[in-house]
Amino acid sequence: CGIVGYIGEKEAFPIIVNGLKRLEYRGYDSAGVALFNGTLTNYKKKGKVADLEHAVVNKNLSGTIGIGHTRWATHGEPSDDNAHPHSSMNGIFSIVHNGIIENYARLKNDLIKHGYSFQSETDTEVLANLIEFFYNQDESMTSEGAVQLALSKVVGAYGIAVLCKKENDKIVVARKGSPLVVGLGNGEYFIASDASPIVEFTSQVIYLNDEDIAILQKDGFTLKNVQNNPVSLKVSNLDLEIGELDKGDYEYFMLKEIYEQPKTIEETFRGRLKSDYSEIVLGGLMNVFPKIEAAQRIIIIGCGTSWHAALIAEYMMEEYARVPVEVEYASEFRYRKPVINSNDVVILISQSGETADTLAALHLAKEKGATVIGICNVVGSTLARETDAGVYTHAGVEIGVASTKAFTAQVTVLTMIALKLARRKGTIDPEEYKALVKELAAIPEKGRAILEGNEHIKRIAEKYYEAVNALYLGRGYLFPVALEGALKLKEISYVHAEGYAAGEMKHGPIALVDDNLPVVVVAPQDDYYEKVVSNIQEIKARKGNVIAIVTEGDTGLKELANDVIEIPKSHPAVAPLLSVIPLQLLAYHIALLKGCNVDQPRNLAKSVTVE
Ligand code: G6P
Repeated sequence: CGIVGYIGEKEAFPIIVNGLKRLEYRGYDSAGVALFNGTLTNYKKKGKVADLEHAVVNKNLSGTIGIGHTRWATHGEPSDDNAHPHSSMNGIFSIVHNGIIENYARLKNDLIKHGYSFQSETDTEVLANLIEFFYNQDESMTSEGAVQLALSKVVGAYGIAVLCKKENDKIVVARKGSPLVVGLGNGEYFIASDASPIVEFTSQVIYLNDEDIAILQKDGFTLKNVQNNPVSLKVSNLDLEIGELDKGDYEYFMLKEIYEQPKTIEETFRGRLKSDYSEIVLGGLMNVFPKIEAAQRIIIIGCGTSWHAALIAEYMMEEYARVPVEVEYASEFRYRKPVINSNDVVILISQSGETADTLAALHLAKEKGATVIGICNVVGSTLARETDAGVYTHAGVEIGVASTKAFTAQVTVLTMIALKLARRKGTIDPEEYKALVKELAAIPEKGRAILEGNEHIKRIAEKYYEAVNALYLGRGYLFPVALEGALKLKEISYVHAEGYAAGEMKHGPIALVDDNLPVVVVAPQDDYYEKVVSNIQEIKARKGNVIAIVTEGDTGLKELANDVIEIPKSHPAVAPLLSVIPLQLLAYHIALLKGCNVDQPRNLAKSVTVE
């Protein structure tokens, strides 16, 4: 979910609504705004922010203090009632909330005993009423005091913004586990779940830490923690260009982001590869590299697309740096009582740096004394702030919910870490090392060549977009690419797709093959080529339709496969960076042909800050 707020001299509503649009990628089940417009009013609507805008035409929207929310449903279906802001029973408080109150059922029962009734099924309304309950206990109670008391009873995660009808000159915000940023303007303050709604107004921000509470008034603000102790302030400078937040000439953000990849991959290694390819410089890891070198094993953790990047790194680190690597889903690792100690190095990968499960895995690894390293895209995110060391991917803001350029940037960073580690350990031949660094540096140019084939890929999509299932196959470094290709299709076109290791096909998925099944096979000319060609034969023998991703000039597969997409020749270890691009485009075109909203696929959110 996304939170926005404004307090100052300007009209708050348009600022909040624009901010919500910037945050819509975090959830788009419903949207709402609470405003001081003479009184305290909530406007909320199921659907997109645009639906909210239509619903409030001719309403009194004049006011200079307000908060807003765009929702990704957890407790309760998407509906007007379940949309935020939520009011407390007597209308004294309006609140927006991101996160989950785990003990909400018990709190709700206690409040019912005290005469409270509820309009929605949400945990947020429970919090609103709990705040009101404490506020009414004592005449001298302030709204921030009531918020502090309520939060001391809460188990779970929250980022909240609160308006109190009786104190109509302030916004109270607090966080634990869900990000919140305060933008410092001139006589005005902005709040948001991330910096994107703020950047057009100010570059000075404060990232709240867990259990911080801020009280914002036009002429100043106070920062303390939930236990009422003062907290020291750290003002950060935003390094974000407003132009990054627009689609430019592209129809969708996802397409823009796919096309940006040659540039973003270059950004990722800019300043990190010496021009003669002799060295990789990763300043952020300088202090921890001795630890990484000494590690008996490395554990890499992520969710979704970030987990796929981790799988590629596993292959690479084991091959070149000869260190055992384990890859884990954050949601499994955090609960399964893993064996982990201070000799372990844990790498956490997250585009947003805010995924709740990944952060919980980070905390667990830290608690066990492991060295924790973050790879993330969003500067200033929780992951970046809480790891011992890290590398930013520098892919720029990614807005499409289905990750594209962040993935290739993650793989680029992981490739650099693996090669540097191998070099330091002496487990890679120096010439091969140099050749590989050079191959990495050549990726952007080759990526451009693949993008030029977009029309061809679109025509392939036209042939297959009505299929209801699809299979994606690859071997070695390209097995995770098959998983990622299938995930892209699933996410944005709702076509059921499975990614599989090509060699595993015969143990199950082959039963699905018939003349209706498109099978995408990532089959460039590498050490596995002959094996993959055999797999393609097996599919063809059962009348499956093969779309093969092949090395430029491969005439053999042109004959055998139904369709081919050519990619430039590259070293197998960097081939994922190239072969994933046609799969992204294929998913994009299929989703478009099916009439899906590519940037905001149903049920998903970009940043999942609940577990
Ligand atoms: C969500 C997004 C995915 C993303 C995953 C992990 O599910 O829809 O695109 O890969 O979260 O996100 P992270 O920000 O941690 O990389």
